[in-house]
Amino acid sequence: MSEMIELRSDTYTKPSKGMREAIAHAEVGDDMVGEDPTVNRLEARMAELFGKDAAVFACSGTQSNQMGVWAHCQCGDELLIESTGHIANYESGGPAVLSGVSVRRILGDQGRLNVDQLEGQIRGGNHHFAPTRLLCLENSTNLGGGRTYPLEQLHRVCDWAHENGLRTHLDGARIFNACVANGYRPDQIGALFDTVSICFSKGLGCPMGSILVGSRETVFRARRARKIFGGALRQAGIPAAACLYALEHNIERLAEDHANARIFAQMVSDIPGIRVDAGKVETNLVFFEIEKEVGTAAQLSSALKEQGVRINPTGPHRLRACTHLDVTEAQVRRAGEILREILFAGLRLESSVGGTYG
Ligand SMILES: Cc1ncc(COP(=O)(O)O)c(C=O)c1O
Repeated sequence: MSEMIELRSDTYTKPSKGMREAIAHAEVGDDMVGEDPTVNRLEARMAELFGKDAAVFACSGTQSNQMGVWAHCQCGDELLIESTGHIANYESGGPAVLSGVSVRRILGDQGRLNVDQLEGQIRGGNHHFAPTRLLCLENSTNLGGGRTYPLEQLHRVCDWAHENGLRTHLDGARIFNACVANGYRPDQIGALFDTVSICFSKGLGCPMGSILVGSRETVFRARRARKIFGGALRQAGIPAAACLYALEHNIERLAEDHANARIFAQMVSDIPGIRVDAGKVETNLVFFEIEKEVGTAAQLSSALKEQGVRINPTGPHRLRACTHLDVTEAQVRRAGEILREILFAGLRLESSVGGTYG
């Protein structure tokens, strides 16, 4: 069988030759005491890009999100987040475990919140309630479907939060996808939030690394959180060199991933038995559903795997395909064709033997 077409996640990307060379030539020092010149360069560059005073390098997006929660909150506080948010669903209860913070989920629209949904949700001033301290948003959304916030909506929500005494954190694991899709600049995003967490190990193609940007005081606290969480590193210039390389080479090209995601969504939208709203695909994530009578997401995922396409289920009938710098347009088209062939064979089988596709 020819090479697998990897559409499970942009986290499966492998460092390119150029990135590996940058890693090999990285200047390093002991970052724990602030002496790694490459990490210092990366932190300064990211603070400048997002228009913030300071930045701190972290191992992962989960770590930098949790450093943000720790830096903003006290034990016993509460944070607000849209119900599909990564911090609420996929960080292993981190806010409770690491910061003693409870998470209150609010139903939004494809991972996004607006002021109407938030109005009346702030609690405090009464001993029955955990005081609401922090609002966490996600842009682009992951489980929410790769959707992005229009800049005006972010303005309205962050202004509302600050006027009501909340601090604001953005889980910007894929913020550059949102910037490229919308044409807004990182500093326009940085101006709205107290902290932003940005990942390098997703669409930017690095082996690891995230950054938290914020004010000097907040980043000082976040750096302490990183130490407490066991995430302070030594010669971290090695992964940081990959991140600097990605900032130069891998941002503008995210538009190709978005175009490939649209191509895939369009192809899939024509297949009987599959439901996708191609018009809602803004970035590199395509969520689609297989109709119940046709089969389950797990069955479809394993049939695809047998044909050399990796796409994961995200629910009983829901799957997510993710484009990235290690898949070409031709591979994405091929994946769409294979999906069609599987569904066609399955539907034929269903009508001839009365079962689901095999
Ligand atoms: C929106 C979002 N936030 C945070 C993370 C966490 O990143 P990591 O896997 O590096 O901890 C992810 C990971 O996919 C994500 O999609």
